[in-house]
Amino acid sequence: MIIWSIETSCDETAIAVVKASGGLSKPKFEVLTSVVSSQIAVHRPFGGVVPNLAKREHLKNLPILLQKLAKEGFDIKKADTLAVTVGPGLEPALWTGVNFAKELAKKYKKPLTGVNHLEGHIYSFLLSKSAGRLELKDIFPAVALLVSGGHTLILKMDSLTKWKKMGETRDDAVGEAYDKVARLLDLPYPGGPEIEKASSLGNGEAVSFPRPMIDQKNYDFSFSGLKTAVLYYLRDHPVKTEKDRADAAASFEEAAVEVLVKKTIRAAMDVKAKAVIISGGVAANKRLREELKSAAKKNKIKFFAPEMKFNTDNAAMVAAAAYLANLRGRRRRITAQANLTV
Ligand code: KG4
Ligand code: ZN
Repeated sequence: MIIWSIETSCDETAIAVVKASGGLSKPKFEVLTSVVSSQIAVHRPFGGVVPNLAKREHLKNLPILLQKLAKEGFDIKKADTLAVTVGPGLEPALWTGVNFAKELAKKYKKPLTGVNHLEGHIYSFLLSKSAGRLELKDIFPAVALLVSGGHTLILKMDSLTKWKKMGETRDDAVGEAYDKVARLLDLPYPGGPEIEKASSLGNGEAVSFPRPMIDQKNYDFSFSGLKTAVLYYLRDHPVKTEKDRADAAASFEEAAVEVLVKKTIRAAMDVKAKAVIISGGVAANKRLREELKSAAKKNKIKFFAPEMKFNTDNAAMVAAAAYLANLRGRRRRITAQANLTV
């Protein structure tokens, strides 16, 4: 079936057309197109996402993206269903996508599926070309680590559609910590890619930042203390050279990655997971991907991650989540639900 999907939960306006087949036992996704209009330049002067500006940009960009797809030859009349993110996210931003999708559904007489953005992230590893060949029995039970700007979660997944939360952050999400530490280092928004770039020139052992909750026998995280440790360190050791900035960035990243990897692998060992699945914007971080992959390998656990372009917010993942939600009979209200959880 052909799914047209829309994503506007934060600062990316995105539409995708995805061909889905195979059912719950062997789902296969072919991303026919996935366009994302980023608002980074709009929010950058404010150091973070401004909800009403995000709304204004989504309202402006949604028709532009739709037109772009039409020009490329994609015909919405051929869609079997439409899908839209209903939450979690910024309420004014979510409404723009929800209202736009409702109008399209009415105009073209198509069914519309409401999607949980977090489910989209979790399923984003299924969008890679090789994923269609996966045998689900070789993956589950799995442990999923979802790391984004708003969430840091560990889930135990018994199947594609059945999971339980094992742990989560008790304060800041790891992406939020990246963004805040970037600001402390005078790096622009969004901070994740900037910290990653600066880190590559620095020494991760230059500063010994705390690894909050690393040895606690739970699967929770705390990143606000790590961010505060960076704040105090920089107050006492102001950045004088690019090397100082790179060392502080690399040392922060080393601490954050070590906690994420250690707790995820412990969770995977404890539940005898066959695979670890990573997703969310922070999953774009090469150090995190590589360290989690090699720790999984060392423990004979498989590792799955989305293709680079599907880590940060996109609409293709929304189509994947819509397909699976429909198959399991999961109906969501088509209204903005800012605080939706997994
Ligand atoms: O999933 P996402 O696009 O949006 C949310 O659902 O929140 O994640 C955005 C987050 C931001 O905090 C951003 O700084 C972070 O992902 N991020 C990264 C990288 N790329 C994006 N963090 C670390 N390293 C990266 N390369
Ligand atoms: Zn996201």
